[in-house]
Amino acid sequence: MDQNQLKLAVAAAAVEYTLSKINPDSIVGIGTGSTANCFIDLLAEHKNSFQAAVASSDASAERLRGHGIEVIELNAAAEITIYIDGADEANPHLELIKGGGAALTREKIVTAVANEFVCIADESKWVDFLGQFPLPVEVIPMARSHVARELVKLGGDPVWRENVITDNGNQILDVHHLYPVASAQALEEKINQITGVVTNGFFALKAADVLFLATQQGIVTHYPKA
Ligand code: 5RP
Repeated sequence: MDQNQLKLAVAAAAVEYTLSKINPDSIVGIGTGSTANCFIDLLAEHKNSFQAAVASSDASAERLRGHGIEVIELNAAAEITIYIDGADEANPHLELIKGGGAALTREKIVTAVANEFVCIADESKWVDFLGQFPLPVEVIPMARSHVARELVKLGGDPVWRENVITDNGNQILDVHHLYPVASAQALEEKINQITGVVTNGFFALKAADVLFLATQQGIVTHYPKA
């Protein structure tokens, strides 16, 4: 199977799992990216099985609405039953790097609210240690150079993702050369303390609850390693 077929396979598995968790009153959280798009397209066949969706980006909201799925503001959702999203890297603790699609802040907010965070990915995303994928950091535009200098002090090599403005009107620095990250939780905390950082793409302080990984041998279900 090529990578696209793997993404479709894992999206199909996640739809089955989601259907086992939701009811017609449920609000489903939906992530961003090509794997999340596969999930959206397959979930659309079951749009009467839940009440509405909360999306982690304007792009996903538009795709959901295109399928006739109601999209509501997070503030209007009393509860999110389940949140499904992709990742750029995942380790055995189910700590992630996310934000390749620049949606990390809204993704982290929806993750914080959801009762369960289900990550879906193809096997190329599975790593022993995080950090080969450059870590996205969303910054307030006027703080970009300051944040970049602070990231250099932490051993990183930040690169401004020019021509990208996030859905929140901010900018992205991609931090290279962090590999291998010894403690993603410690680094997530440290980077978030830099003035001007909105958030960073480590999802380690709150990791995924379950990961469905598409491999050539089939879908493998991972739970966080203790
Ligand atoms: C977007 C994300 C995506 O989940 C991540 O980039 C993975 O994307 P894809 O499924 O296209 O590989 O974090 O901000």
